[in-house]
Amino acid sequence: MRAEIGIDNLKAKDILDNGGLVGIPTETVYGLAANALDPLAVSNIYAAKNRPSFDPLIIHVGEIADFQKYTVDFPVQLLGLAEKFCPGPITFLVKKSEIIPEITTSGLEKVAIRIPKHPLTLELLNSLNFPLAAPSANPFGYVSPTTAHHVYEQLGEKIPYILDGGPSKVGLESTIVGIENERLIIYRKGGLDLDEIRKVFSGEILINDHSSSNPQAPGMLDKHYSPNKRIEILNDFSELQKIHKESTGFLRFNTKLEGFENQILLSEAGNLNEAAFRLFDALRQFDKMEIEKVFIELVPEKGLGVAINDRLRRAAAKS
Ligand code: TXA
Ligand code: MG
Repeated sequence: MRAEIGIDNLKAKDILDNGGLVGIPTETVYGLAANALDPLAVSNIYAAKNRPSFDPLIIHVGEIADFQKYTVDFPVQLLGLAEKFCPGPITFLVKKSEIIPEITTSGLEKVAIRIPKHPLTLELLNSLNFPLAAPSANPFGYVSPTTAHHVYEQLGEKIPYILDGGPSKVGLESTIVGIENERLIIYRKGGLDLDEIRKVFSGEILINDHSSSNPQAPGMLDKHYSPNKRIEILNDFSELQKIHKESTGFLRFNTKLEGFENQILLSEAGNLNEAAFRLFDALRQFDKMEIEKVFIELVPEKGLGVAINDRLRRAAAKS
């Protein structure tokens, strides 16, 4: 099989109605979608991604009213965030309704649910009579895709169709939130930053995105989002005389280093939104260069920079 790339939502719908897989654009990253209510279709997602079956999937719906269909007792504390930010880069981890099969949530009682902000995908979702389970459309552990072409390069042999909605505007996966003991828990830092969330949620917020003790959420494991090159975070770029220039790449925020090649700037203007938008494509570009190692500069730890640095640290993590 070789995936076709196109903008034909009827074709995408037809494949999904018949239990197949389709690459879909979202504002965060591209997803690998299948009918979330069909256990066989969902099992094909795990197989195509090489994803362990204990790592649950996010389901995607077209409108807030769908939250009632697929979840139970949606916490009132989350309603303000849902109204303000959906469609958008936020995912709610809440109690699932019985019609969601166990395989979709890896047997967990909670389901992760979101409304992606992308016109083509929203149109598709609203034409289907089931939600779409869709993890990021990359092999397990690798960098997430932000273009149809990224999906094609890695999963093109395994799926029939990729909907091309242009480059993902945000470029980082959604922020995952839920309520525990009246507090808002951030399970994954992502494309909606904490400052935005704080404007709407006035209660206590706890960040709990470290799951080394919780293998049920490996997307939050230390090592993730990893390109194939060795990655190292460098805090001091002034001591680089000894390195082998030709075999080293540099990922920099907004300024180039004098005298080095193989450099990618995330945002010359120093804009964190632009940096997020370019991050995953930059990591993929290094994988194609004839280099052995990439030195990375962290970006300012504010706004979207918090989630960008999270991805950079995980890309550099040893295990
Ligand atoms: O922006 C996004 O969220 C993208 C686009 C395609 O929507 N999707 C995405 O999915 O990033 P994925 O599968 O790559 O990451 C989902 C993360 C994983 O770390 C998974 O373990 C966690 O969410 N997750 C999903 N359902 C869960 C559940 N029921 N309980 C705990 N963690 C869950
Ligand atoms: Mg992923």
